[in-house]
Amino acid sequence: MVSHSLTLDKNNGILNKDLSQVRQLLKNGQLNVCVVGIGRIGLPTALSFANSNLATFGVDINENLVNMINSGNFPLKDEPGYDEIFQSVIKNKKLFATTNLEEAVSNADAILLSLPTPMDDDKNPNYFALESVGKKLHNLLTKGKLVIVESTVEPGYIENTFLKLLQGDDDNLVVGKDFGLGVCPETANPGEILKDFKSLPRLVGGMDDKTGDIITEIYKHVFPVELVKMPDCKTANAVKLTTNVFRYINIAFVNELAILCEKLGIDVMKVLEAADMKYNFQVHYPGPGVGGPCLPANSVQILHSANLVGNNLLRMVALSQEINDGMASHVMKLIEDGLKSVGKKLENSTILILGVSYKPNVKDIQITPAEPIIQKLKTTGAKLRIYDPYFKSTSVFGILTENSLENGLVGADAAVLITAHDEFRNIDPGFLLAKSRSLVFIDTRGIMDMRAAKKAGLVTRGIGRGGR
Ligand SMILES: NC(=O)c1ccc[n+]([C@@H]2O[C@H](COP(=O)([O-])OP(=O)(O)OC[C@H]3O[C@@H](n4cnc5c(N)ncnc54)[C@H](O)[C@@H]3O)[C@@H](O)[C@H]2O)c1
Repeated sequence: MVSHSLTLDKNNGILNKDLSQVRQLLKNGQLNVCVVGIGRIGLPTALSFANSNLATFGVDINENLVNMINSGNFPLKDEPGYDEIFQSVIKNKKLFATTNLEEAVSNADAILLSLPTPMDDDKNPNYFALESVGKKLHNLLTKGKLVIVESTVEPGYIENTFLKLLQGDDDNLVVGKDFGLGVCPETANPGEILKDFKSLPRLVGGMDDKTGDIITEIYKHVFPVELVKMPDCKTANAVKLTTNVFRYINIAFVNELAILCEKLGIDVMKVLEAADMKYNFQVHYPGPGVGGPCLPANSVQILHSANLVGNNLLRMVALSQEINDGMASHVMKLIEDGLKSVGKKLENSTILILGVSYKPNVKDIQITPAEPIIQKLKTTGAKLRIYDPYFKSTSVFGILTENSLENGLVGADAAVLITAHDEFRNIDPGFLLAKSRSLVFIDTRGIMDMRAAKKAGLVTRGIGRGGR
């Protein structure tokens, strides 16, 4: 048993309480929670529960992370607003991190799973972490405990696969009677999780009605947002995938539209800006690829679900994957073309990558579009540099990153903007030129004022940036 100072009231059996009793337990801070997987989403979730006066265990296999948390060091520095909450719940002994799943689960009424659900290299969903924890939970689910899956999974996964892991071969362990199972898919946006936790509606799905009601009650206590009870788990999971895959497909559309615009001598950013004035248009932007732990993996999950059903469904998702993955090659063409226009080749040129995070203003390189571009550049004989304000003087993809933009620019032949970090917005073309002396600037995010850049003497290329 790990020594800690949380005093947990073992009021097991939440599933066997009625809603008014659940409310009372919540009000009295007598409902104990365990969050398994305390990463980007799980830790803020655990903090929200602990900050609602509920004793909370955070479980993770990452020992360093657990030690860091227990010693009062908040690991998510790029999540505004959490530092203070973190310090407060650690001080009040409402949050305790551990690697010991058994201990945490035995003390908890509700077990939330915020485990990673990435994709494999061969574009299949990887549910390994859920599988591994699910199998262990089978032996730990004493009467009336509640399991809530926050991880993103495809519709049907909970009913057809995960439930069986919890039940094992045990016919005596009945869902809805001996233990509860439901979902509350997480939709927060890294970098603004606290804001999203206070504003985005939460979807709840239960294997049965009562479980759905209890989960709704618990989340209502913790999150000041609208709780939407869905008919079942698979519907709630389908909603989460629908919103993200919608974006993924639309990005594929604007990526190809952007290439068309380049060829037609049109600036796609002008097109999108004006199109966005129409009430029923929802703007998406082209880019060097689609990264992060969500969108690419979610497209794989929905396709997996469609393939299980058969009937050749959701072909446009597969096509979108091809288009979005192909943007790295397009960026390479833009770099080559830009260099060629000033009589240079990739070989022996110094290329500065601006931004490696998969999205602006976060320190996160999961499935970042920067990676395939860097790997391609490495094969050309170009000399590579990286500057990212979130990754200074550190090794990223085998390259020691620059500690300042200025250092990165000195003597660079081309700069390739991959991530639209705030620091790169409104970047002064004159500054870029002054520091590098001569620079080809490749804007993959549509943030550079191309006219101003040209006027300043920069050679520019950009995804979709044709036209005057
Ligand atoms: N990050 C996002 O943008 C985002 C947004 C919404 C939903 N989600 C979903 O939330 C889930 C979690 O994503 P994340 O971004 O927080 O992932 P993450 O990688 O940041 O965190 C996951 C944590 O789980 C831990 N872990 C892995 N296997 C474990 C095991 N067997 N036992 C205990 N801990 C284990 C890891 O060490 C890590 O700390 C995923 O399903 C993801 O799709 C993520």
